[in-house]
Amino acid sequence: RKKVGVLISGRGSNMSALIEASKAPDYPAEIVGVLSNKAAAPGLLTAQEHGIATASLAQSKFPSREMFEDTMTQILESWEVDYVCLAGFMRILGEDFVLRWQGRMVNIHPSLLPLYKGLDTHARVLAAGDAEHGCTVHFVTPGLDEGPTILQARVPVLPGDTPETLTARVLVEEHKLYPLALAMLARGEVSL
Ligand code: GAR
Repeated sequence: RKKVGVLISGRGSNMSALIEASKAPDYPAEIVGVLSNKAAAPGLLTAQEHGIATASLAQSKFPSREMFEDTMTQILESWEVDYVCLAGFMRILGEDFVLRWQGRMVNIHPSLLPLYKGLDTHARVLAAGDAEHGCTVHFVTPGLDEGPTILQARVPVLPGDTPETLTARVLVEEHKLYPLALAMLARGEVSL
């Protein structure tokens, strides 16, 4: 099984979905470590409850972004990870880190990329009056939310939707999509 490190900043529900999927005996990847840039991220506790190694690193404690990201790389290397999954990791990553893991690092983003890169995607979709929305798992490349798509899932935008109802509808799909995309990657069915 391929070894996977997950980067989070908060709740970690996508991380949990990956952990649950990896319990299936035929799943091609296992989550060996979870790294957060926030010490208070609830997802760290969830990972620990599953006996998974965790680490937290505050970028503000480092003299530079490069040193922060080099330390993340050292931790991921100590876990001997084959792949890195960004799962609600809310920091923009520098080029050195991205290139170090390019082809082996993927992200889940709550929109139908290339639509709605960046933050507040659900509110922006509602404000635009779009009829559909969704989520994307993509390879991470130096441009923010720009790497090639692996998989997407679509949901309808319904009358009366609020950012909260739309967020919830997309999140259900994220939790199915991310394990599928990671399995494809770990089986070598997709590459950058
Ligand atoms: C998810 O909806 C994820 O797609 C999004 O943050 C949420 C994290 O939730 N990611 C981004 O917006 C990345 N720019 P989670 O911590 O429960 O997985």
